Amino acid sequence: MQPRLVDTFGREITYLRVSVTDRCNLRCRYCMAGDVSFSPRQDVLTIEELGSLTSAFVACGIRKVRITGGEPLVRKGIMHLVEGLSRHLRTGALDELCMTTNGVLLSKYARGLADCGVRRLNVSLDTLDPERFAEITSGGDLDTVLKGIDAARDAGLAIKLNAVAQKGYIEQDAEALVRFAQDRHLDITFIETMPLGEVRNNCADHYLPLDELRRLIERRWKLIDTDESSGGPARYVRVANTGGLIGFITALSHCFCGDCNRIRLSATGSLYTCLGHEDATDLRGLVRQGADLETIENAIHGAVAAKPKSHGFGTSPGREPALKRHMSVLGG
Ligand code: GTP
Ligand code: 5AD
Ligand code: SF4
Repeated sequence: MQPRLVDTFGREITYLRVSVTDRCNLRCRYCMAGDVSFSPRQDVLTIEELGSLTSAFVACGIRKVRITGGEPLVRKGIMHLVEGLSRHLRTGALDELCMTTNGVLLSKYARGLADCGVRRLNVSLDTLDPERFAEITSGGDLDTVLKGIDAARDAGLAIKLNAVAQKGYIEQDAEALVRFAQDRHLDITFIETMPLGEVRNNCADHYLPLDELRRLIERRWKLIDTDESSGGPARYVRVANTGGLIGFITALSHCFCGDCNRIRLSATGSLYTCLGHEDATDLRGLVRQGADLETIENAIHGAVAAKPKSHGFGTSPGREPALKRHMSVLGG
């Protein structure tokens, strides 16, 4: 039995984000370039490889797994992976198996996810205006996502909405999004746009520090600070008269790296110990050479030991992206 995963800054790593594909059925303007190229298929881990690698992380002490993409529900065999990983919920090795999705395919998959023991989904939703939704996502259909959210609620899943707070967009959309969330008893999180990859909406032009957005929301609702946590990077406030939670993910304006509990596995089997750095450890090579569990666990421990103290985004974005890698490679 390996010791827990603790980095050199004393941070215990209990949360693994597993990207199952870098592909997506949308093209959000802050996430993917129009002409983005995807990983060659032979480099992408099979569902079996993803399952066994994720299980190695669970053996190392990971308690929460979030499945991400690109868009995870476009990955062929995704339900097979979720079903396989759900055994760790039954044995008590995992506390939580959750997913972040754009919601487009939720009507098809929500029930199956709930049946596998998934309890919480984070659904990206930046606007309730159909035209702006199509503009932000490069042609996405808002109604399909709203139907997906309804299907997930009907299946008993708790939903948290994720809205990227893009200056020039979110000022028009925040109030309607908060109202939508309150009416349906959903939590909602606003996210500062992060400077990853060449994208159509340059982060520097669309960066809005979330303190400004909070002030805007406070014109309408009284917000009460809380110390609630969903085990991720959001700081939550409570809406006074509804009790709903609003989260703020302030990666740039108020860095939260000091409390980081997360690492990331890409669809090609690279282990990234920080969203804001390029260094990664190749685990696919080990898996494909037939390495035993102990060798893989040692590689995971070695990578975590070198986890950087913080991302290098700075406190406000410059014109050049901080990293070449697009957000879609790791799904956030
Ligand atoms: P919860 O389990 O509900 O707390 O989810 P989460 O916020 O951890 O996950 P989600 O996939 O919904 O991510 C929301 C946003 O947080 C995305 O934009 C992620 O890129 C961002 N995020 C998550 N973890 C980190 C992190 O370690 N560093 C930075 N900079 N951003 C992060
Ligand atoms: N900055 C911040 N959040 C982003 N996301 C995608 N691209 C960015 C970016 N550049 C969000 C998505 C999704 C989550 C996983 O990451 O909207 O909700
Ligand atoms: Fe796709 Fe999500 Fe990126 Fe939008 S944010 S392009 S939905 S991976």
